[in-house]
Amino acid sequence: MIEMMVEANNLYKSFPVPSRTLREKAKVLQAVGGVSLSIPKGSIFGVVGESGCGKSTLGRCLLRMESITSGSLTFQGQDITSLSGKELKPIRRHMQMIFQNPYASFNPKQRIGSALHEVAKVHQIPMQEAEDKINHLLKEINLPDDTLHRVPSEMSGGQLQRLAIARALLLTPDFIVADEPVSALDVSVQAQILNLLMDLRQKFSLTMLFISHEMTVVRYLCDQVAVMYLGMVVEQAETEELFKNLLHPYTQTLMSAVPSIDPDEKMERVILQGDLPSAIDLPKGCPFAPRCIYCSERCKEERPELREVVAGHKVACHLV
Ligand SMILES: Nc1ncnc2c1ncn2[C@@H]1O[C@H](COP(=O)(O)OP(=O)(O)OP(=O)(O)O)[C@@H](O)[C@H]1O
Ligand code: SF4
Ligand SMILES: [Mg+2]
Repeated sequence: MIEMMVEANNLYKSFPVPSRTLREKAKVLQAVGGVSLSIPKGSIFGVVGESGCGKSTLGRCLLRMESITSGSLTFQGQDITSLSGKELKPIRRHMQMIFQNPYASFNPKQRIGSALHEVAKVHQIPMQEAEDKINHLLKEINLPDDTLHRVPSEMSGGQLQRLAIARALLLTPDFIVADEPVSALDVSVQAQILNLLMDLRQKFSLTMLFISHEMTVVRYLCDQVAVMYLGMVVEQAETEELFKNLLHPYTQTLMSAVPSIDPDEKMERVILQGDLPSAIDLPKGCPFAPRCIYCSERCKEERPELREVVAGHKVACHLV
């Protein structure tokens, strides 16, 4: 039987929106709207979608960095949906996050060595063990020992993101959420970081939620991919199946925006109509209806369920 690291069931996360006038009714913004997913141990689960669709909020909910509005969440079989901060403390070191901007995730005045030792100290790793681990990790990420004496401004973005990965691995976590870890880097450095993650994945048996807005990146790295739109998963499958058989009109649009490296390939470009609608007061029908070229009357009235249409391949669209 496949063991699951994380299982979310019908997870909702809403944020209150302050009323602008006394008469205005309080509203809520639904950042995550009923997401269910299971991440098997040792796998990389990709989440892709455009800006504002709720990827980071979902990632933070899975790490319980956010409270959960409704639904349930288990981590290694333990229900952590409503655990308090104190109850979560022993679990925290088993879950880590890698952020998009490596410069913002390090204190600009603190030496790298001190920043890494501080993490070890907070989690009560003995000094010698921490030192051995840090030296070992520096080798794994291909950075010289003198890195520890430098401050972040003396490092490149790519080097610093390597260090952010090493810092996450220092606690030997079971689960990592990588929130767009390459999107702030230039293309050649992106490839280096993705290759490093692929390499470390084998060595450290990593289980990861990998967030990106780029289809090519999730295709390269992930075992399974969920496509999110307005807080909901609209398509999900194993990576190979998904890219062989793009079924949801939104996924097709995302993919058609990817430039082809084959000059002879004629790919019809589908341009998204209009802006991403607001996650406040969502329309009752399909969330993608206002921008979908296939939208019918039914789509405007009835929200499509996410259902399995081919073994392991789920889609939320009336057309499929
Ligand atoms: N703390 C918060 N309070 C209120 N609204 C929030 C909060 N955090 C996120 N949101 C809203 O939730 C929605 C989803 O945001 P989120 O950051 O999860 O999107 P995202 O897919 O990660 O976007 P990006 O690709 O730009 O990082 C957005 O409408 C955002 O404005
Ligand atoms: S349900 Fe209708 S509006 Fe929604 S994606 Fe499918 S065809 Fe488009
Ligand atoms: Mg985000």
